[in-house]
Amino acid sequence: MSLDDAAQKPHDRLGAFLATDMEAVNALIRERMASQHAPRIPEVTAHLIEAGGKRLRPMLTLAAARLCGYDGPFHIHLAATVEFIHTATLLHDDVVDESAQRRGRPTANLLWDNKSSVLVGDYLFARSFQLMTATGNMRVLEILANASATIAEGEVLQLTAAQDLRTSEAIYLQVVRGKTAALFSAATEVGGVIAGADPAQVAALFDYGDALGIAFQIADDLLDYGGTSAAIGKNVGDDFRERKLTLPVIKAVAKATAEERAFWVRVIEKGQQGEGDLEQALAIMARHGAMEAARDDALAWSARARAALAPLPDHPLREMLDALADYVVARLR
Ligand code: IPE
Ligand code: IPE
Ligand code: MG
Ligand code: MG
Repeated sequence: MSLDDAAQKPHDRLGAFLATDMEAVNALIRERMASQHAPRIPEVTAHLIEAGGKRLRPMLTLAAARLCGYDGPFHIHLAATVEFIHTATLLHDDVVDESAQRRGRPTANLLWDNKSSVLVGDYLFARSFQLMTATGNMRVLEILANASATIAEGEVLQLTAAQDLRTSEAIYLQVVRGKTAALFSAATEVGGVIAGADPAQVAALFDYGDALGIAFQIADDLLDYGGTSAAIGKNVGDDFRERKLTLPVIKAVAKATAEERAFWVRVIEKGQQGEGDLEQALAIMARHGAMEAARDDALAWSARARAALAPLPDHPLREMLDALADYVVARLR
């Protein structure tokens, strides 16, 4: 078995275990992504949604609910809600980041335009709120509404932290917790809440999602430098071009010599980038072990996610969530 097979296994196992639920989620997504009045909406949503995506977040909601013994219908609505929120943020994110590739396809902003991406993203956000009201559960509405606000805050904080070499690891963590981990932790938490799990178990699910999301985003940021476009379905080097202060860069900047600092000021603060600068950035990061240090942080968050699972019932799904925490960082080994 290749390393790739081993890395993919937990995610696929979770998908297989939850296959019936996941089919119901996909059917609901297809039904609700449509619009009777604006044909541009199904064009854009189909382009992105039919491209797949890992469906990680809805699987987390389904797994959390099932793990806590839920057998009602509303985990399906919640899982679809979470994927709609995710899809809306991707449409907006690709406009903000001026990205050209997503899920192995040209982005909607490239194929249509920024206006369509922003407005269809808004539509999906609104649809997600319609979907979650079906549950009639105020607590899950509160959690998902809070998460939506936190995601937007994280993206805006990143906007102001980008191109600023003073950005610290603490700010980076705040950005990542907001833009990425907030939806992971909401996804797992609402699964527990809808199942009526006890507060300690709901807290454990939140902590798992939070740590998993942080590990996931650090890994994503590392792959933006060290991955391949074929493997990640997005263009490599986007963060560098966007002059984002992601963890490996922050670590390298902290250790920079005067000459290296001048390089970072030129490419990140002034945005004067030319041929060979990405390679130069990679060489400087390698010199300071910045990628390894960021990878160690991702591994530590993954370990924290696994430890958080302890109060949850002994169940095959708990083992799969444990393995999933490994999977999100396995690509970095
Ligand atoms: C992409 O998330 C956005 C990040 C938080 C890095 P995913 O990598 O889960 O995206 P899809 O849904 O599988 O395309
Ligand atoms: C993803 O941020 C977080 C959200 C979409 C809110 P990134 O910009 O880091 O993710 P990718 O690399 O575009 O997927
Ligand atoms: Mg992006
Ligand atoms: Mg972004």
